[in-house]
Parts: sequence; structure tokens; C-alpha cells
Amino acid sequence: MKILIINGPNLNMLGNREPSIYGSATMQETLDSLKKRFPDTEIAFFQSNHEGELIDRMQAAIGDGTNGIVLNAGAYTHTSVALLDCIRSLPETLPVVEVHISNVHSREDFRHRSLITAACKGVIAGFGMDSYRLAIEALLA
Ligand code: DQA
Repeated sequence: MKILIINGPNLNMLGNREPSIYGSATMQETLDSLKKRFPDTEIAFFQSNHEGELIDRMQAAIGDGTNGIVLNAGAYTHTSVALLDCIRSLPETLPVVEVHISNVHSREDFRHRSLITAACKGVIAGFGMDSYRLAIEALLA
């Protein structure tokens, strides 16, 4: 199995960014522990602060053997019709699980609406960095 984790804007700051909300672990530490936990799964990772680059990376995963995408679109979750259209255009063989580190529903109202959920296989939110592991478990299952 090959899983692609994609992180959107400001998630390159994990470890330093609002630790009371996102914790103090870096994404590299999280990736290292995910690779140990899923030794038989190839885990690729991509982060960008740019909406179009997130779309380009998802489209590049079509036909490259990727079996599922774990997507934390960051703030684009709440704003991006372009990401919604991109996820809708992916083949059924390439499901996307929407992930959030924080429980977006316990935060500001504008975080309660996701434009991308309708096109995703499911959503995992609120479990800190463990949200990524849970999303991978869901895709492997
Ligand atoms: C986030 C939640 C979003 O509302 C926010 O804009 C982020 C991170 C999360 O992982 O909890 O950048 O997606």
C-alpha cells in the first residue's frame, strides 16, 4: 500500500505553531513514528502553502500507485472550491480522508464548515497528531 499525506498552509510550522492547539510535535517526528508504525506501507509526504500546488500534487498521484490520500488542507478546508473539485475529479481508487489535528467543531464558527468533506471518504478531526495515524488506519482497512 502506498499512502500520500498532504498538508496545506501553515502546517509547515507544526511544532511552533499555536502549541496549545496543535501540540509541540513536528511533522517530521510524526512521519518518523508513522513509518515505524506502518513498516509495510509506503508513506509519501507533501506540504505546500499554495492552493494550486496541493491540487497539482493530488493530480500527480493519479496512476502513480498511490492507494489513498490523507489530506489536511488547513485553512483551505473552509474556503476552497478548487480543492473540492480536485477531490471530486480523482478516481474512486484514490480515496481522500480529510484530517484535522484540532477539533474544528469546538473552535470558531468559520471552522465548522468544510467545503471538501462532501468529496472525501471520511473525516478525522480532534485527535492531535494521532489524527494522521487514524486516517491511515481507515485507508488501510
Ligand atoms: C486544521 C484546522 C484548520 O481550521 C486550520 O486552518 C489549520 C489546521 C487542523 O489540522 O486542525 O490550518 O486543519
